[in-house]
Amino acid sequence: MAGDSLPKDERERLLAQFAEIAALAGGLAHEIKNPLSTISLNLELLIEDVSEGDSARDRRILKKLLSLQQECRRMGGILEDFLKFARAGQPDLTPCDLNQVVREFLEFYQPEANANGIEISPHLGADLPEVNLDAGLFRQVLLNLAINAQQAMPRGGLVEIQTRVREGRVELEMIDNGCGMDEKTLSRIFEVFWSTKSSGSGLGLPTVKRIVEAHEGRVLVDSAPGRGTQFTISLPPAVKMPNVL
Ligand SMILES: Nc1ncnc2c1ncn2[C@@H]1O[C@H](COP(=O)(O)OP(=O)(O)O)[C@@H](O)[C@H]1O
Ligand SMILES: [Mg+2]
Repeated sequence: MAGDSLPKDERERLLAQFAEIAALAGGLAHEIKNPLSTISLNLELLIEDVSEGDSARDRRILKKLLSLQQECRRMGGILEDFLKFARAGQPDLTPCDLNQVVREFLEFYQPEANANGIEISPHLGADLPEVNLDAGLFRQVLLNLAINAQQAMPRGGLVEIQTRVREGRVELEMIDNGCGMDEKTLSRIFEVFWSTKSSGSGLGLPTVKRIVEAHEGRVLVDSAPGRGTQFTISLPPAVKMPNVL
């Protein structure tokens, strides 16, 4: 981590400063949510009112209100993603069966995948050791990766989800056959607020990385334009395994 070479007290001062700024930013995002929901609610009422009129003026107003509503939704989405990012660093860890967490996620995500022409092919490894997980945060990881995969395949496609043990760690792979990424894109995907999408928050993958690293895990990515993308998450087992595997 950057700052590892600093003297201990300087490092602690910077960490305390960082925690303060993070708390401030989180508080700000939270505070903005309330007025934003009042604005959204009133916009909805105005839209209902104006939708009943059929003059050219009503139609002009309706168009502007709908565009305001879209921007409010976008702002709400960014705030939600930001708050998720802020919470990502504090997992509440308990020994879990990763396959069970994946199964529960698939149950929840399957209808969304079906509606978007995405076929999901799970291959869950047998006899996985337990991993220390915050199941709620980890579902967020799976969702962020699945949504990206879905958005990379606007005309539908295949998502493979695999779990296995490799070199004493528990691995999860999510592979899509979507648009893939070039080198330049790959070098920036974990930067906060960096996105190639017109309405992307650019917080999905930074949140994935933050959650996984808070679990002492690693995220690897392999991608090629036109071929697809593979994300691999590797986690330490809850109880260290003997070196025979
Ligand atoms: N599975 C994927 N296939 C192709 N590109 C991807 C994939 N996942 C992420 N990306 C690229 O990484 C960028 C950052 O992703 P993310 O942090 O989730 O933000 P967002 O989805 O809001 O753009 C995306 O804008 C996209 O360019
Ligand atoms: Mg995303």
